[in-house]
Amino acid sequence: MAWKDLTPKTFASIRELNGISARTQEEHYELYKGYVGKVNEIQKKLDAVDRTTANQIFSDLRSLRVDYSFAIGGMKNHETYFAHLGGKGGAPTGKLRELIERDFPSYDAWLADFKASGLAARGWVWLAYDHDLNMLTTAVGDAQNTFPVWNATPILALDVYEHAYWFDYGRARAKYIDAFFNNLDWDVVAANLDRALAMQTAGQ
Ligand SMILES: [Fe+2]
Repeated sequence: MAWKDLTPKTFASIRELNGISARTQEEHYELYKGYVGKVNEIQKKLDAVDRTTANQIFSDLRSLRVDYSFAIGGMKNHETYFAHLGGKGGAPTGKLRELIERDFPSYDAWLADFKASGLAARGWVWLAYDHDLNMLTTAVGDAQNTFPVWNATPILALDVYEHAYWFDYGRARAKYIDAFFNNLDWDVVAANLDRALAMQTAGQ
């Protein structure tokens, strides 16, 4: 198995946010780089692991596979998260707005549900396009690798791990979630949706 030398993407234009401090963002980005480093480290170890000792209770192969899913989940989740920060908030328009209103009772109902889901989750909330159901869906994760919906593409990822807001808001997670939406770049979310829909078309 070949391993890839994964390097962090550019951390541009998101240090200065409205309501999320530069300290939070810079520490958060260091965490993200840690995930990338571990993906590379685990990939190298998978190349050389002793597969003759594979065992469901404990084995090096099992541990590497499990922790790989956590590490690469952390990498992908944060790439989505950072990429759509730095915007001016507001509300979505166009196709994205149309599909939210098609697949949820209304935009306001979706937003209220998504924010509440951010209080119910222990790690992440995603808005994703489900390629089997042909619709948008909301999912929560308690960790970087739970609980994915198969064949669904995340287009919006809200990090609700405490590290994303504790410096700025302490336990007041709802205030951070409001700040997240105030800094959201809906154009990036719309572009994510366009890519997901293109995948849908290509797969049909
Ligand atoms: Fe995070």
